[in-house]
Amino acid sequence: MSSCVSSYVRPQASRAKSLHKDGLPALEPEVLEYGERVLAFLREQIELAGGALDFAEFMRLALYAPNLGYYAAGMTKFGAAGDFVTAPEVSPLFARTLARQVAEILMELDQGEVLEFGAGSGVMAVELLLALERLHCLPIRYLILEVSASLRAVQRERLLQAVPHLLERVVWLEAWPQDFVGVMLGNEVLDAMPVRILEVTAGEPLRVAVSDSAQGLAWAKLPASEDDLRVLAELTTARGESFAEGYRVEFHPDLPGWMRGVAQSLKQGVVLLFDYGAAARELYAPERWMGTLRCHLRHHAHNDPLLHPGLQDITAWVDFSRVARCAQASGLDVLGYTMQAHFLLGCGLAEVYEDAFAMAEREVDRLQLAQGFKTLMMPGEMGERFKVLALGRDVGGDLAGFGMRDFRGGL
Ligand SMILES: C[S@@+](CC[C@H](N)C(=O)[O-])C[C@H]1O[C@@H](n2cnc3c(N)ncnc32)[C@H](O)[C@@H]1O
Repeated sequence: MSSCVSSYVRPQASRAKSLHKDGLPALEPEVLEYGERVLAFLREQIELAGGALDFAEFMRLALYAPNLGYYAAGMTKFGAAGDFVTAPEVSPLFARTLARQVAEILMELDQGEVLEFGAGSGVMAVELLLALERLHCLPIRYLILEVSASLRAVQRERLLQAVPHLLERVVWLEAWPQDFVGVMLGNEVLDAMPVRILEVTAGEPLRVAVSDSAQGLAWAKLPASEDDLRVLAELTTARGESFAEGYRVEFHPDLPGWMRGVAQSLKQGVVLLFDYGAAARELYAPERWMGTLRCHLRHHAHNDPLLHPGLQDITAWVDFSRVARCAQASGLDVLGYTMQAHFLLGCGLAEVYEDAFAMAEREVDRLQLAQGFKTLMMPGEMGERFKVLALGRDVGGDLAGFGMRDFRGGL
């Protein structure tokens, strides 16, 4: 994948083969040079902020600063040649199975549209459209709301190559749609939103921030705001007990506003959100006192977001209890919550797999299907750590994906 509409195109370096002494891949000089530009920009922003930048703002800039941030510039991120894989990248089985749930909802609504948030490389859009076409249930339009201009270009190119006959149905939105009827989808979008980190101390909790020093970026602390304290109180209630001294509580400050956008757009239909995360009581377990922040660099996962900003993905687990609360506060219903494995089985993954296996002509394709099935389903892989939350408005009937198990009572 390459492409860029930005003024500065990230170098498409050949993949590094050796490992650096910190256990991470050794990066090529041109990539490191690009990283230096991102770092210089972040240092400026830290100075502008008075010497310490709230971590949520640091994460926002490291990932999304126009033309510079990880998602805003044009280097390969997804798949084997990138930094990480997501469920639709792992196997077409994911989108083909999801298509059955989407078709069920579109039929219930007697037509409608699909809106995908954060479409990444465009692979899910391609596979979903093809599967919905086979099911004779194509949406009127397939809308994409994507914050990254460079990824919008990547998605358009992929759809043009893979499904030129369906491209006219695909529309990239600049803003939330109005009176949307249909299915909204987001896979690993919430975990890519910036998180604020509060550290619980004996006195007032503190905001975790980033400062600059002669040795490089460093951790700092800022006073928490009134709003932070209100969120902390809300999370303490959801967790059922106070956080211990030193606990690092992460939350997504953009979530309430984003959910209001969803609710104001959705006239009728279902929102399906897939991500790694958990309900509050599980997520804020005592042993997770260090938080869940995770960085991905060329398929190496580590915990230091200050290392290689702009060159690596930064993510944090999703608090599905809070997502559900924000949705309800915005007037949406919670329709189901389950693990990815249960959702996929409920939607008929076994049948989708058998069909694909029977159609596969080469042994290597059958092996890939089997490997994909395993990665999507195994508890230690994506089957349990990934959850699915369904929200909705004005829809009746049960959703197939939550027919096997529905844990919404535990949110
Ligand atoms: C981890 S990637 C997942 C991509 C894709 N959904 C997949 O599963 O392969 C996160 C995606 O969400 C996008 N994104 C992040 N915040 C967003 C927001 N507020 N609205 C829409 N897209 C967003 C990113 O640009 C990126 O495309």
